[in-house]
Amino acid sequence: MALRAQVVSKIIWGTSLLLLAAALFLLPAELSNDAKSYLQYPKDSYLNFTTRTTKHGYITEEHTVTTEDGYLLTVFHLRSGKKHPGAVRRPPVVMMHGLLMSSDTWLDAGPDAALAYLLADAYFDLWLGNVRGNYYGRRHTKLDPQKDSEFWDFSTDEMGLYDVPATIDYVLNKTGADQVNYIGFSQGAGAFLIMCSERPDHCGKARSLIALAPATRLKYTKSLLVKLTVSQLKAYESALSAIGIKEVFSRGGFGQEILSFLCKYSIFTNVVCEKVIAIVDSDHAGSIKPKTLRVLYGHFPAGTSVRTMARYGQALLSEGYRKYDHGETNNMKVYGTPTAPFHNLSAAHVPTYILHGNNDRLVDPADVRWLADSLPHVLERAEVEDPMWNHLDFMYSQHIRKLVLPKVLQYLAKYCEVDLAKQSKRTMPNLH
Ligand SMILES: *[C@@H]1O[C@H](CO)[C@@H](O)[C@H](O)[C@H]1NC(C)=O
Ligand SMILES: *[C@@H]1O[C@H](CO)[C@@H](O)[C@H](O)[C@H]1NC(C)=O
Ligand SMILES: *[C@@H]1O[C@H](CO)[C@@H](O)[C@H](O)[C@H]1NC(C)=O
Repeated sequence: MALRAQVVSKIIWGTSLLLLAAALFLLPAELSNDAKSYLQYPKDSYLNFTTRTTKHGYITEEHTVTTEDGYLLTVFHLRSGKKHPGAVRRPPVVMMHGLLMSSDTWLDAGPDAALAYLLADAYFDLWLGNVRGNYYGRRHTKLDPQKDSEFWDFSTDEMGLYDVPATIDYVLNKTGADQVNYIGFSQGAGAFLIMCSERPDHCGKARSLIALAPATRLKYTKSLLVKLTVSQLKAYESALSAIGIKEVFSRGGFGQEILSFLCKYSIFTNVVCEKVIAIVDSDHAGSIKPKTLRVLYGHFPAGTSVRTMARYGQALLSEGYRKYDHGETNNMKVYGTPTAPFHNLSAAHVPTYILHGNNDRLVDPADVRWLADSLPHVLERAEVEDPMWNHLDFMYSQHIRKLVLPKVLQYLAKYCEVDLAKQSKRTMPNLH
């Protein structure tokens, strides 16, 4: 009897592994922009960062950052071209996106609500980074992401150790500034804290950290779907790796293309596309405009490594902000200890502001409070005023202008000044 139960459970696991693999990895050819234009996809869903912002009247330059370990990451330099061209506030602001996202995500709520557009309109000199593994970080000086599986041997730890510091250094070099202000959403904030732990000198290159729903320990995550997905990927990481699968949820993948296709039809927008967000995160009816829902699946999910997802699976079970757990034997080799060590949150001496949502089922308020208590220099931890505010609202809500922007401007006001060389101060609106 017991034996039969074992066989049955093996079959069930095997089948679910195959279904998961089919859903995640059987990639149809990615549709070309011409095809999408013909099929009447909204332009903002397939244009890249540069063409999209230019279309809305902004000025964007593309840059490539090379990390110490050879990853090539596209960074976009965005300024308002509309009102007072040339006027900027100093120092530059680096913005870093969340898990399975890219710099494009900061634009998805549209010119009236997306944080990147609103901050550019307020004359900030914005540099929008990308981490390894998404479609703007899928290049390397030596490795081919398609053929060399080592390309994918990274998790959030390497984003914090290499990608964030390389991006900051690049921006400092290009602007001649000696510090940046840093805005990180979710993983983008978590990776910054890893940098502070691993490279304390780099932490001081930020004048301030604005952490929007920062993801570190995820002990109280409530989203069932996310818990299931990351724990399955954690369980199957070595099996998937053995059959050569190390990349997940890439743009052009099955799930992304289907959602992107369906969501452009209004009959699906509210029924399916809003519900996907509600299931991943939580319900906040009407917060995301149908227009945004039709755009965002054009580049979400943006891709990462299986290991990054597995690391999130580990974070669900951890009492602290731990490094990736390689298993006892390999931990001894990599860390010299049988268990994965904790990141040193006390090393994040940067002035820190934390803004998060009461209804966030991915980065739970209890984990954010724990983080705030663990950091040495938190000036404010605030919840967004709307009690229904969830995780993805920071990127997609139509209410960002009213509920998030004023806080971010208030935080930045203390840590920036107008570049007088370029523009008379009187023509610049006051931040207060
Ligand atoms: C964005 O699209 C334009 C026009 O197709 C292209 O010239 C540019 O290289 C693209 N940039 C990136 C980073 O893909
Ligand atoms: C930027 O880097 C280049 C090349 O390494 C160097 O020559 C230049 O002086 C740097 N500029 C600044 C402002 O640090
Ligand atoms: C963590 O960082 C703090 C502050 O920089 C330092 O005093 C402490 O020694 C570090 N702890 C560890 C375990 O490295």
